[in-house]
Amino acid sequence: PRPILLTRHGESRDNVRGRIGGDTVLSEAGELYAKKLANFVEKRLKPERTASIWTSTLQRTILTASPIVGFPKIQWRALDEINAGVCDGMSYEEIKKNMPEEYESRKKDKLRYRYPRGESYLDVIQRLEPVIIELERQRAPVVVISHQAVLRALYAYFADRPLMEIPHIEVPLHTIIEIQMGVTGVQEKRYKLMD
Ligand code: F6P
Repeated sequence: PRPILLTRHGESRDNVRGRIGGDTVLSEAGELYAKKLANFVEKRLKPERTASIWTSTLQRTILTASPIVGFPKIQWRALDEINAGVCDGMSYEEIKKNMPEEYESRKKDKLRYRYPRGESYLDVIQRLEPVIIELERQRAPVVVISHQAVLRALYAYFADRPLMEIPHIEVPLHTIIEIQMGVTGVQEKRYKLMD
């Protein structure tokens, strides 16, 4: 069995300010997580010389991967966070106040709701298909450093969760979800590296 490690990027400046989307760098806590993650990965995967690190093309995942040395890194656009379109950079409160209809329709059907000029969860699930195919094909461990919505979809695929649940799955910051694919099925462990 070989592990797949799923994690969100370390806390970003936008996470601190409560803004969605964007392309900011890490907060101090986020930088600390990046170091702890590197430690964890080096210990956990040391014997597996063929492991690789996959990130999105956004700064916050690339910076989270940067303290990890000795493994190849690959950037995937398909691992970028859900595109919030016209709402990119806003807080949920701002969306609720300035675009109440949008806020309500997302609340009603978070899976199918598509941000104006952006994406829905269903769109994200669809664009992840090549990533999933490649993950299944890999024989070596993979560390996937990505974003909340994307990791909900990836996790749901491996943990066999129903489509409707995907937008609501808990994927906290600073936590590694380890998935083991063995002959007896999928096993899961969570490592919370910071509070
Ligand atoms: O707030 C962090 C974040 O990754 C945003 O960039 C993104 O829009 C959001 O989470 C996705 O979560 P939800 O679908 O619950 O809004």
